[in-house]
Amino acid sequence: MMNGTESLTGRATKWAMAVAVAGIVGTWATDGHSQAPPAAPGSYPDLAPLPRLKINEKMAELGRYFFFDVRLSGDAALSCASCHDPKKGWADGAPLSKGYPASEYFRNSPTLINAGHRKRFMWDGRLDGSDMGTLVRDMITEAHTMNMDARLMQERLKQVPEYVAMWDTAVKKNDDINGMRVFNVVGEFVKTIQSKNVPFDRYLAGDTAAISAEAEQGLQLFKGRAGCIQCHNGSTFSDGNVHRTGVPENPNVWNTPERAITMLRHYATSGMPNYMNARTDVGAYAITKDKRDVGKFLTPSLRELKYTAPYMHNGMYATLNDVIDFYDKGGGEGSELKPLNLSSSERSALVAFLQSLSGDPVTTEPPKLPGYKVRVFGTN
Ligand code: HEC
Ligand code: HEC
Repeated sequence: MMNGTESLTGRATKWAMAVAVAGIVGTWATDGHSQAPPAAPGSYPDLAPLPRLKINEKMAELGRYFFFDVRLSGDAALSCASCHDPKKGWADGAPLSKGYPASEYFRNSPTLINAGHRKRFMWDGRLDGSDMGTLVRDMITEAHTMNMDARLMQERLKQVPEYVAMWDTAVKKNDDINGMRVFNVVGEFVKTIQSKNVPFDRYLAGDTAAISAEAEQGLQLFKGRAGCIQCHNGSTFSDGNVHRTGVPENPNVWNTPERAITMLRHYATSGMPNYMNARTDVGAYAITKDKRDVGKFLTPSLRELKYTAPYMHNGMYATLNDVIDFYDKGGGEGSELKPLNLSSSERSALVAFLQSLSGDPVTTEPPKLPGYKVRVFGTN
């Protein structure tokens, strides 16, 4: 059965303690926001449309410039869009993320669509979904993503007059561009990246013709015999918790020394015991140090899958058919899942249902970036 019976406070405390010990997150919130109570079997939060997010539009517009601006990375060659490209479903289309030059990453670059709704961030769930600023800080300052020094970033941005002017109206009048606030400004833009016109949401709103009869059959399986809803529930299609489904290791992690090194470095920073002997992606265990969490990953959202292949934390499945085959077999080694023995029409129905969770493409044109114009003496 599912391992979803730990109490809310037990789980939230465990995460908070583990992360505090690891020292990954300086500003860990202990309000328990991130952990919805694990649902009792049979009483999972129902599927629902996404709630509206409150967004500061002016701040988000400045954040859009920063999102595409390579000057936020150490070598001024990478922007957020390099790995979260609007033309590739706000991901990068590759099984494993490339990372900062010379330090490849060991997991898939996730989509940013609906990121503002996540309960937790990262495939191992290590960051609190309500704290976008910290997530953005890590993306910008970590050596394996954008490798940027916050102070240097701040000084660079201060020498772009258009940014100073936009900061004045969007963030704070007569205030210098400030590193920590830049992270929040980028985060405000990320919140605007949301699903649009999703057939299944129209169906939920009463338009019964919005999805096909086959997708409707898939919905029944999803909530019924296939049991997907036990983990993929609520408006985000995620319980915000970690589970072991047994996705096989991606051999290209250990075949590529740069990726393996980045993974070991992640374990070392997390304070994982005996990390030098690890030869698999241990997932949440590196964060919680609880042996029961070895190989557990965060339940991802199932919205907008049409745009975000390949799938899973290591991009091991290229298509939704591959994913359904995996579930049909009861997942991989050590999985919490049971084989489903679906007929081929049931498998197609599940795929049709998953397809109804993707809406219109969410895109934006990259802005034309203003150049440096170093301020003259006396105006700094
Ligand atoms: C070099 C590639 C790269 C760059 C550049 C990059 N990211 Fe990421 N991003 C990733 C990867 C890989 C992960 C997942 C890491 C993990 O789970 O261990 C991630 C995770 C995220 C997440 C969490 C999503 C989720 O569902 O858990 C958000 C939000 C995010 N990035 C936003 C940004 C923003 C904003 C920027 C620019 C400031 C940025 N990223 C720059 C590769 C990148
Ligand atoms: C025990 C909890 C659990 C159940 C039940 C479950 N999933 Fe998942 N699902 C997960 C987790 C955890 C992942 C991520 C695994 C990984 O990356 O290693 C995932 C990943 C996925 C993905 C890939 C999404 C992406 O963006 O990469 C799809 C698609 C998916 N599940 C569909 C389903 C369907 C369909 C069912 C029912 C047949 C189902 N899941 C049942 C927990 C579950």
